[in-house]
Amino acid sequence: MKNLIIKGSAAAIAALLTLHVQAQTVADWENPDVLGINKLPYHATLQLPSREKECKEIVSLDGQWLFHWSRNPEERPKDFWREDYDVSQWDRITVPGNWQTQGYGTPIYININYPFVKDRPKVTTEPPRDWTAYENRNPVGSYARLLDVTKEMLSQNLILHFGGVHSAFYVWVNGQRVGYSQNSMSPAEFDVTKYLREGRNKLAVEVYRWSDGSYLEDQDMWRLSGIFRSVQLWVRPLVHISDYRVTAVPNADYSEAAVRGTVFVCNTGRKAAKNLSLAFTIDGKTTTYKVGKILPGDTIGIPVSHDISQPRLWSAEKPNLYPFSIDLGALEHFDYHLGVKKVEVVGEVFKINGKNVKLRGVNRHDHHPVTGRYVDDATYEQDIRLMKQANINFLRTSHYPDREYIYELCDRWGIYVMDEANHETHGYGYANHVMGEDLTFQRAHVDRAESLVKRDFNHPCVILWSLGNEGGVGPNIEAMYNKVRELDQTRPPFYDSDRRYSAIWDDSYLYPDDLRKNAQQVTDKPFMMREYAHAMGNSCGNLQEYWDVIYADSSICGAAIWDWVDQGLSLSPAPSPEGRGALGQKASPSGGGLEGAFLYGGDFGDKPNDGPFCINGLIAPDRKPHPHYYEVQKVYQPITFIREGNDIRLVNRDQFTALDEYDISYDTLRYDGETVLNVKAQLKEDKPWAEKGFTVAREQFVLKSYEFPAPTIPAKKVAATGITVEGNALTSWIVDGREILQAPLEPYFWKPENDNQNAAGFARRTAVWKDATDVTVKYTALSERSILVEVDYQPTSTNKPVMPKFGMRMRLPADYTNIRYYGRGPWENYPDRKQSALLGIYEMPLSDYETEYIHPQDNGNRCDVRWFEIKASPTGGGLEGAFRIDGCQPLCIRAWDYGEEDLETAKHPNEIRRGRFVNLNIDLNIHGVGGTDTWGKRTLPQYTIDGNKPHHYSFILSAEKKKE
Ligand code: GAL
Ligand code: MG
Repeated sequence: MKNLIIKGSAAAIAALLTLHVQAQTVADWENPDVLGINKLPYHATLQLPSREKECKEIVSLDGQWLFHWSRNPEERPKDFWREDYDVSQWDRITVPGNWQTQGYGTPIYININYPFVKDRPKVTTEPPRDWTAYENRNPVGSYARLLDVTKEMLSQNLILHFGGVHSAFYVWVNGQRVGYSQNSMSPAEFDVTKYLREGRNKLAVEVYRWSDGSYLEDQDMWRLSGIFRSVQLWVRPLVHISDYRVTAVPNADYSEAAVRGTVFVCNTGRKAAKNLSLAFTIDGKTTTYKVGKILPGDTIGIPVSHDISQPRLWSAEKPNLYPFSIDLGALEHFDYHLGVKKVEVVGEVFKINGKNVKLRGVNRHDHHPVTGRYVDDATYEQDIRLMKQANINFLRTSHYPDREYIYELCDRWGIYVMDEANHETHGYGYANHVMGEDLTFQRAHVDRAESLVKRDFNHPCVILWSLGNEGGVGPNIEAMYNKVRELDQTRPPFYDSDRRYSAIWDDSYLYPDDLRKNAQQVTDKPFMMREYAHAMGNSCGNLQEYWDVIYADSSICGAAIWDWVDQGLSLSPAPSPEGRGALGQKASPSGGGLEGAFLYGGDFGDKPNDGPFCINGLIAPDRKPHPHYYEVQKVYQPITFIREGNDIRLVNRDQFTALDEYDISYDTLRYDGETVLNVKAQLKEDKPWAEKGFTVAREQFVLKSYEFPAPTIPAKKVAATGITVEGNALTSWIVDGREILQAPLEPYFWKPENDNQNAAGFARRTAVWKDATDVTVKYTALSERSILVEVDYQPTSTNKPVMPKFGMRMRLPADYTNIRYYGRGPWENYPDRKQSALLGIYEMPLSDYETEYIHPQDNGNRCDVRWFEIKASPTGGGLEGAFRIDGCQPLCIRAWDYGEEDLETAKHPNEIRRGRFVNLNIDLNIHGVGGTDTWGKRTLPQYTIDGNKPHHYSFILSAEKKKE
């Protein structure tokens, strides 16, 4: 299989009269012609992942393996696979797992560029000296373990199964080379029967961090390596089921479904197989098929069929499954399930089961803060549960196939899946012609499409096959497309970078208005944003605006948020058996003490890196929802409530669920004279992802508005003892002999950026506002314990940029840490992200009022605040009663135990200097968080503050007496 390249210099040969030939063998891992050696064909997942433990065919090889790490191929132990090579003193490593998360080498986080020098197909060309790949040119992990085999096992067919190995690897058994594989996110299997023997066997695996396959694996994620998914030995009868594919498509009026399948049976023995029968059981009915004679080495396909009348259809809303089983005589038994459904593109409309469903989507990377690319079953369940609870019905497995179990969960709990091939070549540019046209990589492209469809074919949840993300344009993509069409006619291909090969037109990260316009212009295909609402840091503004557009246009089939989970890695405090902490010795130069923090690009000294650009999730790495998770839950809810006079009209956004399947109820609540109506729809029965009573949809209507205090000056002047005003600032306020202000109350129009704003050049554009000018503040004592504050802004020049915020700031002593307020909550909300935060009276410690972003940035705002109280701890020296703010109109309030300057300089939350004071921003309005992308797009104009118009607001400060 190897190519031999003979390089010779004719001149040198002539001069020396000696044959001077430098023979150089091209390594398989730098040769795109070699995708695998002795790999068995790809096939469907044979046994439901949740039932694997019961499957007698499978011997798990997960657990502790012996391990050796080398920084480059030259230094690797070249013959460790030999039986007489002593590996007994090697370290232990956990399989499945990445080696970087277990203390070996350096994790690298990089978005678009390759982490090695781009010199296709080579991956070891010398990089700049400061790159991680300079010293660690192409690290190699050498793995070994023993494996016991019985005589009984040896009489069968033994298949070694690797669920996923990054990026390329060789396998040896008992000193004999078995094979090689790349295409890291799909299973690789080898027939090892002839290499094994009774008793102890030595299994050796050599893994290369990078290979020519890495040119197709340039996804924006942590670049991690090793045997990161399970390894199994399958002990199979000599004649066994090698694959099966089942479809279940309903007829035109959905009265019948035709289940059609092919079961492939192969004969790995030396004798012809005769007189076998195959039983297919579904819906309590077993049909038996005679299997014809199978000659040694042959595989035959046996068609199976079954008709279902009045089928219960599968959808994300109603994930009806038909379990089925396949028995090969008494030899083998597999359990699976199918779902009856139809996926269609009808002109501009994308339909499931004949209905124009809307895909309320999210993108997800397979990421765990401790185990990296290996995500355990419990975390999968937690993710899909949290998605279902957030009314997400569509998952794109960006940007590669995940572990099999997640698809089973989506089948069972109901999530539509866009299953994506492990293909991205962004380092050559978005929609590049290089990789799409380089025919030496064509087989590698097709290999990725084929492995995707063949493995996941039988999952009802899959509705679209994605050819990859941000890849090339050209014949290689056409070849992938043709392969997918050839393998499956029931689900269309999708692709973002070469739209000729996509059933759906993708245009991502548009402003809501451009989404509306662009979708109108595309008239031959449905439209979607495969990615939108870049959820980096404090983000996800204007989500409702998107969905107003999507619901109004039947040709827009949906959109998927980028992305689900922050890809932060944690330093595990628990050392591995060798005494290394996970992620070991290399952790951050940035001041130590990062235990407990989530780390991002650069924190491991990794170079090049893209910093915190991997922190874009709706949930934190430990799966704790961010405030914007709840906004998604609200905007994605399947019911819209509209007030029409004294009635509330319910609009059902779902297609297969009736409104009477929910308990709909309402409460009327009165707060300080304001009356609100809260309406909700709850589950009538338990679901696998939530209990009966779980609120699926909700809304709030104000029936009688709050009466804000009118800022009237008392007729009788109050003696303002204890108050010192200097210019616009209140510099001192002494009540009951105590100074309340640790820093003056003064006009303050600045706010730190969030990630979205940073990319949009916000700080630069709005820098003039670091000085609050053209503003006058008037202080009036209303009583001995209260002050009216009136703030007036009158611009005296034009062409001012937008204001970060219009308001004031002050600092209280540090022990004011208990908050109670009437406004939107309980979680953080901003003018463009407050759909989910309903009005109410909320009480919480300051630490909960703040939001701790992994990459520190502006946070913690609450909108529409009527009043706000903050109290010192009883043991401190503060006021005995609360310090209270009453808005004369709704306020925006942020409270932190640190200042703007602390936030703006910290790179991780634990670097923020805290606890010297409580920083209070009391504003009329604040610039919205933005909701489109994090590389330049801005907050929608309606959520910004015009610096060229006058602004005015007022509020009352009171130092309350202790409440009786
Ligand atoms: C997209 C890309 C994603 C991710 C995102 C930025 O264009 O498809 O993989 O890089 O940008 O976070
Ligand atoms: Mg990319």
